[in-house]
Amino acid sequence: MSSAQNGVVRLADYVAPAWRVDEVELEFDLGISVTQVRARLHLRRSGVTPQALVLDGAGLQLQAIRVDGRELADTQYTLDETSLRIEQLPAVCVLETLALIDPAANSALSGLYLSGSAEHGFLLTQCEAEGFRRITWYPDRPDVLAKFHVLLRADRQRFPVLLANGNPAGSGELEDGRHWVAWVDPHPKPCYLFALVAGRLEKIEQEYRTADGRAVMLRIFAEGDAIARCGYAMDALVRAMRWDEQQYGCNYDLDVFHIVATHDFNMGAMENKGLNIFNAKYLLADPQHSSDDDYAHVEAIVAHEYFHNWTGNRVTCRDWFQLSLKEGLTVYREQQFSADMNSATLKRIEDVQILRRSQFIEDAGPLAHPVRPEQYSAIDNFYTATVYDKGAELVRMIAGRLGAAAWRRGMDEYFLRHDGEAATVEQFLAALGSADGSDLSPYLRWYAQAGTPQLQARGEYDAAQRCYRLDLQQHTPATPGQPHKQALPIPLRLALLGDDGKALPLRLHDSADAPGERVLEFDSDRARFEFQDIDAPRVASLLRGFSAPVRLDAGLGAADLAFLLRFESDGFNRWEAAQQLARLAFAGCLAGAPVVPELGTWCDTLAELFPQAALDPALLAELLTPPELNDLAQSCDPLDPAAAHTAREALEQALAQRLGANALRARHAQLLQAERGDLDGAARARRRLLNRCLRLWLRVEPIAAAAMAAQRYAEAPAMTERLACLAALLAAGAEQAQPALDDFACRYDADPVTLDKWFVLQAQAPRSDTVERVAALMAHPRFSLRNPNRVSALLQNFAVRNLPAFHRPDGAGYVLIEQALAQIDALNPTTAARLATALKDWARLEPARRRLLQASLQRLVRRDSSQDLADILRRTLG
Ligand code: ARG
Ligand code: ZN
Repeated sequence: MSSAQNGVVRLADYVAPAWRVDEVELEFDLGISVTQVRARLHLRRSGVTPQALVLDGAGLQLQAIRVDGRELADTQYTLDETSLRIEQLPAVCVLETLALIDPAANSALSGLYLSGSAEHGFLLTQCEAEGFRRITWYPDRPDVLAKFHVLLRADRQRFPVLLANGNPAGSGELEDGRHWVAWVDPHPKPCYLFALVAGRLEKIEQEYRTADGRAVMLRIFAEGDAIARCGYAMDALVRAMRWDEQQYGCNYDLDVFHIVATHDFNMGAMENKGLNIFNAKYLLADPQHSSDDDYAHVEAIVAHEYFHNWTGNRVTCRDWFQLSLKEGLTVYREQQFSADMNSATLKRIEDVQILRRSQFIEDAGPLAHPVRPEQYSAIDNFYTATVYDKGAELVRMIAGRLGAAAWRRGMDEYFLRHDGEAATVEQFLAALGSADGSDLSPYLRWYAQAGTPQLQARGEYDAAQRCYRLDLQQHTPATPGQPHKQALPIPLRLALLGDDGKALPLRLHDSADAPGERVLEFDSDRARFEFQDIDAPRVASLLRGFSAPVRLDAGLGAADLAFLLRFESDGFNRWEAAQQLARLAFAGCLAGAPVVPELGTWCDTLAELFPQAALDPALLAELLTPPELNDLAQSCDPLDPAAAHTAREALEQALAQRLGANALRARHAQLLQAERGDLDGAARARRRLLNRCLRLWLRVEPIAAAAMAAQRYAEAPAMTERLACLAALLAAGAEQAQPALDDFACRYDADPVTLDKWFVLQAQAPRSDTVERVAALMAHPRFSLRNPNRVSALLQNFAVRNLPAFHRPDGAGYVLIEQALAQIDALNPTTAARLATALKDWARLEPARRRLLQASLQRLVRRDSSQDLADILRRTLG
C-alpha cells in the first residue's frame, strides 16, 4: 500500500501482500532518547514467483541487517526515507534488523514516544494507523497478521513497569540495574495493534472470570495519584465484559487485560490487543474532578475499546478503506451497551445530536467522503464522524432490518467465518445476511455514497377510501467527486397517531396484520405507500427512533409538531418534534419577522410540559434545549454566524420568559434540595434539569440567579455542580464569573484533565474579546502546543464551539488559528490536520467573512505543510 502513486492510495488498487509474516520477535532496549529495536521477521512469500520484499519504515536508523543469520552487503538492499527493499530472498527466511530510534524527539505521538518529562514521564506507543513503521521495518498494513513475541529490557529504577500485548512470558534481572520482561501474544494480529508501555506507573487490579471459565487479571495503570481515579473505569470494564458475553457470546481471550492512561495522546483511546491505551481524559473519573458527562464518556470509551477485542482485533480490516468495518460496528455496539446501562432514549438523543452537529456538517461540506472512502492520501484524516458515527448508523439500520435474533445469528456467523482474518465490508454483509437468507448488498450503496439523503414525506387521507397515502421522495445532494447519487434503502419507522395520540392499526394494502408501528423499506427515488381501513390520523410520526441517517422533511407545521411534542409515545420522536419546532422558530427569528408564531407555539407547548411531574427530568432538560448553533447554522445560506447566534439567543430568551422567573426559580430550588451528589441515573437526570433551569433562570432574573450560581459554585460538592455553575456564570456574563474562574484555576492547576475544562470554558465564552483572551491563554505557562488535549481544549473548542467569537467580522479568529496551525503542524501533523477541519465551512459564509477565511486558507496552503495538513487544506479549498 505504501507504493501508492503520488501518495494517493485507492481501494480499487488493493493487492494481497506478497509476503506474510508468520511470527515476529521484537527486542527493545528502552531509553528515553535512544531505544534500540531488534526485529526478527519470519517471512514467507505468498506466491510461487519471486517477489521483492518491500517493508515500510520511517525515521529509523539502521544498525544491522541480516537474512537467515548472514549480514547483508549494502548492495543487497535499498533503504530510503520510507522503505526498505530487498530483491532476492528465499521463499521462507528470517530477516533481522537492528534500528535506533529517539522516543523523546517524537512530538507527533505516533510510534514510540515519551509522555511527560524526560525525568518523570513514561514511554508508550501508538501504532494505528501507520505508526509501527516508526518502530521497525515491517509490512505496515492491517492484512498481515503475525504472532508477536516481545522482549523488553530497561533500567529497573526508571522503568519498573514493562508492558506489551498478550500474556506475560517471564521476567528477570540483568546486570547494571537493568531488568527484562517477555510477552507473547498467541493471537495473530496486524502491527497496528502492537503496543508497549515502560515507566513508573501505579496500578489497580481485579480478577475476572469469563463466562467460558478463563481467569483474567484486569489491571489499570496510571501515573501517581491519578490511580485513585481509575475505579470507575474498572467498574465499566467489568460491566462491558459481562455485557459482551451476554449479548454477543464474546469472551475475553487472554490471561491479562491491561489499560494505561496518558495525558499525551492524539485520539480518545486505542484498542491494542490486551493493552489498551487511553487518553487520561477518557479514563480517570471521580466526583471531585469529573462531571456526569465525563463519567458517561469513560463508560462508553472503556466499552468501545474493550468491544474492539472482537470487532477489530479478532476480526480486523483488510485495508484502511474498511476502517468502518471495525469502527462503525464498535460504535454501534457501544451505543447498545450504553443504552442498556442508562436511558436508551437519552442515549439515542445524544447520539443523534453528535451525528447532526458533526457528521451532517462534514457530509455537506468539502471534506465529505463515503463511510468507505475510495481513496486517501493521509489515512489519519479518515478517523472521522462519517466513518465512526454514520458507520454506526449503517450498522444500526442493518441490525434493525434483520431483527434482534437474526442480527445475533449473523454476528455469530461473521465471527465464525472471519475470526483471525482481515475482512471487508462485503464479507460482513454476506455473513450477516446468511442468518436469514437476506441479501444485504443494497446497503453497500450506503457505504459507497457520501452525502446525507434528504427524505421528503407527504401524507394524505382519503376519507372515501378510508385510506392514508404516504408519498416519499429521496434525494442525496452531490458531494466532491460524486456528482450523481443513487437511491438508497431507507428504513422508515412510522406510526399514524389518532386524536388521542395513540397509534392507529396499520395495514398495508396486501398484508393482513395491522401493528401500530411499521418499518417501510423505501429504496427508490419515489414511492407511494397506502394504508387501508384506517380512520383519519391526526398526524404521522415518521422516522421514529431516527431509523435512518437522513434529513427528513415531513412538511409538518407548528400545530402538528406541538401535537407530537405533547402526545408522541416514542421518546426520541417527541424530542425530535421539539427540535423541529425550534428550527421553525429559529428560521422565523433569523428572517427578522416581527412576530414569529412558531416561537410562540414552541414556548407555549414547553410551558405546558414543564410542570408535568411524570416527565423524565433528563428528557425534559433536552426538550427545553433548542438545537445547538452548529446544527442550526446548517440551515443558513449564506451563514452569518453572528446573526445565527442572535436568533438562537432569541429562542432561549423567549422560552425563559414564557416559563417565567417564578417557575424557574421554584423548579431550581426544588431540584437543588433533592441534590445529594449521587451518581445514579436518576440523580444525574435531575442534575441535568437543575442546570438547565439555572441557565434559563439567569436570563430572566440575572441578579438573583447569578448570586445563586456563585454560591452553588463555592459550595459545590462535586464537579458537575461546580462546572455547570461556572459555565452558567460565564454564559451570562455575570460579574462573579471571573473570580470563579480564578478559583477554578487555583484548585486544579496541577491536574491536566481538569485544567483543560478551564481552557474550554474560556474558549467558549461569548465575549467580544474572546480572541484576545484565547491568544493570551496560548502564552499561559500551562498551555502547550505539544499537548493535543490542550490544543483541543483551547483552540478546537474556540474554532468549533464558539461561532460568534471565531467568526468575528475582522477575521482575528481566523488569523489566530492560521498561525497556530503552522506551529502545531511542525510538531504534530495529526493534531494540526484535525484543527484545520474547523475551517472547512468557509464557502458557506457570507461574503466578507468568506473572503477573510479563504485568504487565511490560501496563505496556509502556500506554506510547506505535513501530508496530513496539506490533504485537509487541499480538499477544503476544493
Ligand atoms: N482505533 C482507535 C479507536 O478506538 C482510534 C485510533 C486512531 N488513531 C489515529 N492515529 N488515527 O477509535
Ligand atoms: Zn474504535
